[in-house]
Amino acid sequence: MFWQLTLLAYLTGSLSFAILISRLAGAPDPRAGGSGNPGATNMLRLAGKRLAIWTLFGDLLKGVLPVLLAASLGLSVQQQAWIGLAAVLGHLYPLYFSFRGGKGVATAAGALLGLYPPAAFLALGAWLLVFRLTRTSSAAALVALPVCLPLLAWQRPDALLPMSLLASLIIWRHRNNLRDLFAGRERHF
Ligand code: G3P
Repeated sequence: MFWQLTLLAYLTGSLSFAILISRLAGAPDPRAGGSGNPGATNMLRLAGKRLAIWTLFGDLLKGVLPVLLAASLGLSVQQQAWIGLAAVLGHLYPLYFSFRGGKGVATAAGALLGLYPPAAFLALGAWLLVFRLTRTSSAAALVALPVCLPLLAWQRPDALLPMSLLASLIIWRHRNNLRDLFAGRERHF
């Protein structure tokens, strides 16, 4: 059951809601404008609040649902966390879009929510605080995920390895944002 759910999480994680929603709504392709990232932040820049919220919701669900399904089938916390990571890998390297996906923040937040909600709320609090201070989505994401790892290590130690890998992958996917943040030319809201 573990491997089937891991595959399912990757396949559903590969559904890029930014691309699908922009196509359905006749909005600009997020890969062709703004930061070029198919994610909620770039949808907000290019297509407005409503479509960005739908994107965020869809990307979050594809993280939370496989983890909750795994939990309901009695899989261990560590297996749930690997399944959450598979969903994020689908988002980063989507099968249906030439393996060119997004940065994984919303899907990771969904996986975290499924695994241990207090960690997800801590990450959300950190995200909101950093965003309020910087008006920069990437800076908020780069702080929010690592911040909740100690709490996860304490309360869900079995999930720490997959979730640390997940946080590292997300930081890696933000390498251009990091470069732009240090150069002072990152996009603000
Ligand atoms: O969630 C993605 C965000 O952290 C950065 O997005 O479009 O500003 O590169 P973007």
